Amino acid sequence: MNEGRPSRTAQRVAVRRAAHQLLDRPLVFEDPFAMTIIGPDAAAATAAKAEGRVSSSFRAFMAVRSRYSEDELAAAVARGVRQYVVLGAGLDTFAWRNRHPDLKVFEVDFPATQHWKKQRLANVGMEPPASLTFAPVDFESQTLADGLSAAGFQTDQPAYFSWLGVTMYLTREAFESTVAFIGALPRGSGVTFDYAVERSELGFFEKLALDHLAKKVAGMGEPLQLFFRRPELAATMRRLGFAELEDVGRDELNARYLGRRADGLTLRGGIGRLMRARL
Ligand SMILES: C[S@@+](CC[C@H](N)C(=O)[O-])C[C@H]1O[C@@H](n2cnc3c(N)ncnc32)[C@H](O)[C@@H]1O
Repeated sequence: MNEGRPSRTAQRVAVRRAAHQLLDRPLVFEDPFAMTIIGPDAAAATAAKAEGRVSSSFRAFMAVRSRYSEDELAAAVARGVRQYVVLGAGLDTFAWRNRHPDLKVFEVDFPATQHWKKQRLANVGMEPPASLTFAPVDFESQTLADGLSAAGFQTDQPAYFSWLGVTMYLTREAFESTVAFIGALPRGSGVTFDYAVERSELGFFEKLALDHLAKKVAGMGEPLQLFFRRPELAATMRRLGFAELEDVGRDELNARYLGRRADGLTLRGGIGRLMRARL
């Protein structure tokens, strides 16, 4: 991330969630604020744009990863978790859709991105709810522990974390120190994140797609830098304290969320996978 500059990829993925609300039926991920939060110009452009195959798969992944994580959040709340931390929140709107009155929400993000989001919220009239606390943290130079404790997070209580569209932009050290922090929280805590698969494990067309994506996001000042092989990631998560893991990719996610649709919305590539880890 460029110091002092908000994330551009945050707007990009939020536009895909908005496009999902408009173009796909049935919805995999329902977000009545998705269109508002991207701002009126982007909303108008989204409404005018018909999207092709590659872009529909990317859009599907954006919708599916949010749905997967919020399904896991619901399971965590059912287990008694009352703290939810959205890591690298970007233009995430969960706090405005929160139906659990006693669930505290913390949005952690790169300081410049968070500042930009607050301006956007004011511009589009989305007042932050009382249950939401903002915690500015740069994962590369600050600890999550410091950022969250300043925001009133309780480390003696379990918490659920989502971390979508972020790990691939981090160094391995920043990734591991964040996971280690979560891994030291009380039982019942958990995290869901997506990750990029090591290039050598991809097929020919997936390599091309990865190279295209890498070029695009590097041009936005957010180069991809962290990739995993599945067994290596599982071993890291277990070493850092997580007992129960689920690692899902295109085929499982298509079967779980995108089966039997008339509109053909489907995940096509295998670059991104989702990991759900519980303590
Ligand atoms: C692709 S966006 C994803 C945003 C959001 N999670 C979503 O799915 O809409 C990447 C997010 O990671 C955040 N990010 C990237 N590097 C970071 C860092 N070093 N510290 C904190 N946040 C970071 C960006 O500010 C941005 O909000």
